Amino acid sequence: MSQATEQIKDRIDIVDVVREYVPELKKTGINWKARCPFHQEKTPSFTVNPGKGFWHCFGCAKGGDIFSFIQEVEGIEFPDALRMLADRAGVTLEKADREQESKRSRTLELLRHAANWYHQALLKAKSAEYSRAYIAERAITDTTRDNWQLGFAPDAWEGVSTYLKSRGFRDDEIASAGISSTNDRGSQYDRFRNRLMFPIQDVHGSVVGFTARKLNQEDVGGKYINTPETEVYKKSSILYGLSQAKQEIRKQDLAVIVEGNMDVISSHQAGVTNVVASSGTALTPEHIKLLARYTKNIALAFDPDAAGQTAALRGLEVAWREDMSISVVGLPEAADPDNLIKQDSKKWQDAINHRVPLLDWVFGRATRENDITAAAGKKNAARSILSWIARVSDPIEQTHYLQKLSSLIHVDEAVLRGVLAKRRPAPSTRPRQGLQREPSPKPHILEQVSARVLALIILNPEYEIDPAVLAGEAFQELYKRRPELYDGRIEQLDITLQAVARSVLMIAEEYRYAAPEEKSREFKSLARRLHHHHIQGELGEIRSLITRAERSGDLSTLEQHLAQWQQLNQELQKHHAYANQKEDEKT
Ligand code: UTP
Ligand code: MN
Repeated sequence: MSQATEQIKDRIDIVDVVREYVPELKKTGINWKARCPFHQEKTPSFTVNPGKGFWHCFGCAKGGDIFSFIQEVEGIEFPDALRMLADRAGVTLEKADREQESKRSRTLELLRHAANWYHQALLKAKSAEYSRAYIAERAITDTTRDNWQLGFAPDAWEGVSTYLKSRGFRDDEIASAGISSTNDRGSQYDRFRNRLMFPIQDVHGSVVGFTARKLNQEDVGGKYINTPETEVYKKSSILYGLSQAKQEIRKQDLAVIVEGNMDVISSHQAGVTNVVASSGTALTPEHIKLLARYTKNIALAFDPDAAGQTAALRGLEVAWREDMSISVVGLPEAADPDNLIKQDSKKWQDAINHRVPLLDWVFGRATRENDITAAAGKKNAARSILSWIARVSDPIEQTHYLQKLSSLIHVDEAVLRGVLAKRRPAPSTRPRQGLQREPSPKPHILEQVSARVLALIILNPEYEIDPAVLAGEAFQELYKRRPELYDGRIEQLDITLQAVARSVLMIAEEYRYAAPEEKSREFKSLARRLHHHHIQGELGEIRSLITRAERSGDLSTLEQHLAQWQQLNQELQKHHAYANQKEDEKT
């Protein structure tokens, strides 16, 4: 840990930070608790310990310090989290930290200046008269215009670039940020001319590029042109509006994806703010990964199969494999969300509320578009539906839809499975990169018990247990190193052990003020449970050894195992007897 991180931790209260993202955080004893912001749950298992400065979720096993919390909740990398918290704490970062970031931050600085210049031009320039009328005609309010920092690029070869040079930026910097283009004679000119400018922000709100809409139908170029790929603008991992939408996406646990920037802006203006756009590009695995930080539920407000969107399936497959649920927002023929909102903003929210699971939507469309009583129609419908069913990764869900298709078109499920098997792509052709599943399985019940046992041992160092009964090496290792736990010296442990140690220390806080006899009773019952399980495991092993000895006719080994078996079994009976007695006491 560098000095800066220590200073930041000293100056910032982790509870203050977490509470900004998790308002329901409540003090319970020494720890603070809430429902976990990183997974769905009904009862709070997300815990923050202000004294130790760390957090842990007992539900999804995520945890760490203030930096990892910001990384996780904002979906950013460590250097960004460091910068954010350093700003907040008023801590100056070391030169090395800064230099590494300096090129990137200079580009961002340049883009910030450019966005501001375009925005000022829209507000003030005489030549922006038409664009001001245009946005008024499209019912964009002044507040919306300012919130989204809309701008105007005048019809000039050297407008914004002259300004940027006056601010000390070099030609090569202006070009590599995507603001200017270079012609074949090598001279540079402004890329965006006579266009309405939409700054594109990354997830933290820094401008990384622009989308520019044509204002004059006769002008050359596409309706929209965009910043090319640059060091800071990676089209495949930017969702327009995400920095403004992320909080609401998390709150509603739903991200609505629309196609166009104008759709995002009108939707936000109409008060529906969990909306982002893929800006006319296919949905990529990176997009999904970005959204997965905020929600597992995605609603597509465009025809998932429409021209140009077929490639979107790459992203959707990833979403599926990640157990995200995808639904489709039905839109009236030829309407985009912006049109709909113009008619009546209630219609847009209604459409979202009436979204349907993607596969159900696929069924609906296929049956509408084909006469499924005729052979040709059946074949058509089946083909398009199967192409989607093929992508469903969950076998139960897949079977559900196969059965649905089977009864819809009266074709045997086995036949459909045959078709499916033939058309399924070889596993190697499937994209492998993209989302790496984070290792956050729910801790096994025995791990939870082991953590509690260790926590009680920390509070009462005189308690002992046979480490073999603890679930997993991490707990066994921690038991060995319990003196370090007593002192809270967990930084010396390796990173995985630290995570486990944190959860143990957190639990210890929960028990700290429990009555001694309560702690003792709890310890005995948990330890017994671990022993019990351990014995059962051993019995299973001995049983197979017995079988083997029987087969090989090795009588002395057999006898030995039988004796072990008997002994363990007796021990187990004792446990049972005790457990039953406890049950009787309760009733
Ligand atoms: P649309 O053509 O649906 O535009 O393209 P729109 O958003 O409805 O815009 P308005 O309402 O006509 O002003 C959807 C998105 O596709 C991208 C843009 O990001 C646009 O918002 N696009 C479209 C391009 O990048 N280039 C194009 O030439 C057209
Ligand atoms: Mn539109």
